[in-house]
Amino acid sequence: MRVLVTGGAGFIGSQVVAALEERGHEPLVFDVRADPGADVRDPAAVGRALSGVDAVCHQAAMVGLGQGVADAAEYVSRNDLGTAVLLAAMAEAGVGRLVLAGSMVVYGEGHYACPRHGAVRPGPRAVTDLDAGRFEPTCPECGQGLRPGLVGEDAPADPRNVYAATKLAQEHLAAAWARCTGGSAVSLRYHNVYGPGMPRDTPYAGVASFFRSALARGEAPRVFEDGRQLRDFVHVRDVAAANAVALEAEAAPGALTAYNTGSGEPHTVGEMARALAAAYGGPDPVVTGEYRLGDVRHITADSSRLRSALGWKPATGFAEGMAEFARAGMRGA
Ligand SMILES: NC(=O)c1ccc[n+]([C@@H]2O[C@H](COP(=O)([O-])OP(=O)(O)OC[C@H]3O[C@@H](n4cnc5c(N)ncnc54)[C@H](O)[C@@H]3O)[C@@H](O)[C@H]2O)c1
Ligand SMILES: [Zn+2]
Repeated sequence: MRVLVTGGAGFIGSQVVAALEERGHEPLVFDVRADPGADVRDPAAVGRALSGVDAVCHQAAMVGLGQGVADAAEYVSRNDLGTAVLLAAMAEAGVGRLVLAGSMVVYGEGHYACPRHGAVRPGPRAVTDLDAGRFEPTCPECGQGLRPGLVGEDAPADPRNVYAATKLAQEHLAAAWARCTGGSAVSLRYHNVYGPGMPRDTPYAGVASFFRSALARGEAPRVFEDGRQLRDFVHVRDVAAANAVALEAEAAPGALTAYNTGSGEPHTVGEMARALAAAYGGPDPVVTGEYRLGDVRHITADSSRLRSALGWKPATGFAEGMAEFARAGMRGA
């Protein structure tokens, strides 16, 4: 299969390219950072690149925390205008198969159960609570402590920042494209992706990158809140393999199908820092009690749909993956 990989020079995209090659496909890299560079917002460039292509794997995006609104226009431009230009060009070229890099950020705070009220959806945490070190969200009905659960694909979307809003809009645009053209769209909602080639700590990087970069400077990883925030850390090669199987599988025509793409094994951020520091040979992490407004407390995936529907299974476990990442190279700015 000939696959156009947008963002194919990036952290995840480059591993998608490698996975496709390994499986005998023909990936074509389309990326502003490639040589020659090409922008997904350029209809003529996208149109040319789609010639003879069977499917598109759309990884290109401006990534990050999306805190504040100063760069909202740039996020919308690269992520949503870019997706719209790509989809229009696919319709024009008759390319009917899309796999999109989705994100768990579309869920917001995730899934919680109150002992009295069952499933509840807590809103953003209050500054007064965070300042007082009360990090766990409480039941909006009774104020009791909550038990975090696994988020399924049918959970309502609740994007909490600009980046999250643009990732959700990408899915809505892809669904509209699928309905109009009869094409099939799959969104792989990645959880916290880590592994070799991860960008170094820019304001846009993930938490594993912050810790790994601190260790490389000889500093202790600084863990926010109390370190007990749950995340699902999924290895970049497993994410790349998920893209390959999603491209190969038959998908429902005229619709978008979403799959959580996580390891299925939630770990706390504190555990991750300890695993990485131990594998690197120190120093030990420090838990600071600081917080970032807009961070969600827990977010963990139920990735069983991807396993059952597409037969995907993560191959790299937490301990093994973190040990490798502690020694792996990272990408400079
Ligand atoms: N890293 C994660 O944990 C994570 C989690 C969820 C979702 N995602 C999604 O995965 C995808 C890949 O992210 P990544 O972590 O590899 O980031 P990355 O920054 O390494 O890769 C993105 C690539 O897209 C390219 N790009 C950006 N704007 C472009 C444009 N207008 N035209 C062409 N190319 C453009 C960049 O040059 C870069 O190479 C993104 O869509 C991101 O939203 C990542
Ligand atoms: Zn309650």
